Amino acid sequence: MIQKPKGTKDILPSESYKWEYVEENAKEILKNYGFGEIRVPVFEQTELFERGVGDTTDVVQKEMYTFLDKGERSITLRPEGTAGVVRAYIENGMASMPSPIKMWYMMPMYRYENVQKGRYREFRQIGAEILGTNSYEADVELIVMADQIIKKFHVPEVSLNLNSIGCPTCRKQYAEALKGFIGNNLTQYCSTCQTRFEKNPMRILDCKEKKCKELNQGAPVILDYLCEECKTHFENVKKALQDLNINYVIDPNIVRGLDYYTKTVFEFVSEKEGYTVLAGGRYDGLVEELGGQKTGAIGFAMGEDRLIDILEKYNTNSNIVACTPDLYIASMGEIASKKAQTLALELRKKGIYVETDICERSMKANLKYADKIKSKYVCVIGENEITTGKANLKNMATGEEQEVALEVDEIIKIVK
Ligand code: HAM
Repeated sequence: MIQKPKGTKDILPSESYKWEYVEENAKEILKNYGFGEIRVPVFEQTELFERGVGDTTDVVQKEMYTFLDKGERSITLRPEGTAGVVRAYIENGMASMPSPIKMWYMMPMYRYENVQKGRYREFRQIGAEILGTNSYEADVELIVMADQIIKKFHVPEVSLNLNSIGCPTCRKQYAEALKGFIGNNLTQYCSTCQTRFEKNPMRILDCKEKKCKELNQGAPVILDYLCEECKTHFENVKKALQDLNINYVIDPNIVRGLDYYTKTVFEFVSEKEGYTVLAGGRYDGLVEELGGQKTGAIGFAMGEDRLIDILEKYNTNSNIVACTPDLYIASMGEIASKKAQTLALELRKKGIYVETDICERSMKANLKYADKIKSKYVCVIGENEITTGKANLKNMATGEEQEVALEVDEIIKIVK
């Protein structure tokens, strides 16, 4: 038997209603903040991620699904959404459209990860990006929206952790301080960290190796090295969030795993699961890095798989329920069957969820099946019902039966 690749999942109809619930509700919030949907290719030129995400990151060095296509081009399945969105922003001349541009996406991403709790090789993100503004108010709007999304789904015990990782100006000084701290112990770090020391020492702080994590204890923090502009920006963000009663904690250890970040970075972490559900930050240098004009930008992505895992485990949102039929029409004989089909068609046209027998079941099997699929009402049509033009509607929750004319509007009055 052929099995699905490691780290992927099938989302079956019996599960997909949870995903639909999350996506529909997230979309509603995104719409109210003025975001429009963008869809970009599943695969891009590898160079986009090397330059965008950064060639010293774990994502690029270890986790990309990269291959040569039949034309010998290096292609990569997108490991994240921001680089592709920024490419599309530049390629489609969106910089000359009214700013800011606000975009959302719901897309699968691909990373060759060590598969474990909350870590998959194909996973889905719900992301939001704002391009074309340097203002701290964009940071605030985006974080407030993320907070609203997280709250909408009643994620239990989630903490909003905030940091600023400055800009290239403040990072120069910080990199020196960090190299001073790491330098003496460099040979004790993993080989990947050693290769990152010269080019991008901040990456070392993001290493997942236990030994490196221990060595990083007590390292200087970027917050102490922020330039005036970055400091003011961060103060403004914090103050505005306080004014809006958004709780957060400052976590000076957030560095993020992707190279494009500048200034504000944030993560919504599930304390119960010990992983991040939603994360993002400012990326003021990325548009320029990818060939556009210098453009202020900020965004986030929520791990939809992680969110659903949490919702399933803690069951904190009673609004997430599978859709069940309003009515099941069982019939006996050919004429009744035709009547059932006509009624079902007319009722469905009016937005009623109706099921009829398409398996030629016996009456007993029909009723058993209607019960199994949790139909709210059941109606049996036979010769008698055809003659009288009336049938009994059974409310499956209460067991009550009620006579109804076999007319669409009469049935709707009861089942809706
Ligand atoms: P990221 O932190 O790499 O950021 O991913 C965002 C979220 O995607 C994570 O917090 C997590 O919930 C989920 N996620 C990441 N990797 C996996 C995985 N292997 N399995 C399951 N879920 C995962 C980004 O991707 C940035 N593009 C976010 C962003 C948008 N920043 C600015 N704009």
